[in-house]
Amino acid sequence: MTHPTDTQVGAHALEEAAAIGGYAPSICNTQPWRWRLTADTLELRLASERIMRVTDPEARLATLSCGAALHHAHVALRGQGWDAIVTRMPRDGDPDVLARLRVTGRAPTDPASVEYLRTIPLRHTDRRPVAGSPLDAADITAVVAAVQAQDTESHTLRPDQILELAAAVDHAQCSEAKDPAWRAELAAWAGGTRPSGSGVPDAAIPDRVTQTTVPGRDFGHHGDLPVGAAHDTAAVFVMLYGRGDDPIDWLRAGEALSAGWLTATARGATVLPYSAPIEVVASRQAMRAMIASVGHPYLLLRLGRTDTAADLAPHAPRLPVEQIIDRA
Ligand SMILES: Cc1cc2nc3c(=O)[nH]c(=O)nc-3n(C[C@H](O)[C@H](O)[C@H](O)COP(=O)(O)O)c2cc1C
Repeated sequence: MTHPTDTQVGAHALEEAAAIGGYAPSICNTQPWRWRLTADTLELRLASERIMRVTDPEARLATLSCGAALHHAHVALRGQGWDAIVTRMPRDGDPDVLARLRVTGRAPTDPASVEYLRTIPLRHTDRRPVAGSPLDAADITAVVAAVQAQDTESHTLRPDQILELAAAVDHAQCSEAKDPAWRAELAAWAGGTRPSGSGVPDAAIPDRVTQTTVPGRDFGHHGDLPVGAAHDTAAVFVMLYGRGDDPIDWLRAGEALSAGWLTATARGATVLPYSAPIEVVASRQAMRAMIASVGHPYLLLRLGRTDTAADLAPHAPRLPVEQIIDRA
């Protein structure tokens, strides 16, 4: 009887890590990542056919989404007792490679990664108003710490800034909706025809306009997600931002999004990202002014809790692994 070699076991762990990376959140569930698997390394690239070119012309939100997938894959390895080195934006080869994850051998399982790994299947976007009890300060502190550990800053919006955010989201969504190419792109990823296993399903889109201070994404149609009439009075808004505004910063912001979101999920909190005010330049500048231009905004998050059982909120589909992993 032959036993698998360490290299074979490591390659299997990498393949599983890439598959777990597939559960990461992404702009409109485009899953714009592609992994290339070799004996001891996973290479992460943008999947150009799954970038929303009108909404996201610089691929900043696609790169951020890839960062979330990278964090998911990394915790999958660390949580299962593998030591892995991450190299972001390696400059020694293909310029399209966003990151490389190389397994160097067995290591004691990292308890934080084990907890993240347990939470990955539970994490999802919840677009229902958050009318329940507000988040504890300790929960917000934990999310902020998880974000900071990934070299990304966060700013919790003051009440007056929430109104500013509402105006910026409204402005962004109205200006985007005027563009027929933008409407067609959104329709291709939310409802309508699209590759199966991706896109935002109607089951995750509210069945009516939600009672929220900050307007949710207008997907162009109502979905099937039942929402109550309550107002999202318990919402807390957090901006992820950082010093730079380059692809490496967007990648790191995605890792921070994953860490912060998994931390929130583990503590029973819900998360809804808002990217419209990042997509439109004027709104992004308004977001930047909110932090006195000390950094560059990457994404807005609404944190909250719902009184409805969290397990009633549906999960979005995922692409089969064959479509996200290439074997060398
Ligand atoms: C960079 C980024 C931007 C997003 N922007 C929005 C948004 O503006 N509105 C929204 O409703 N969801 C937004 N989402 C959530 C995605 O639609 C969601 O992650 C995706 O549909 C997969 O669903 P899941 O998070 O439930 O797994 C965003 C997610 C990411 C990663």
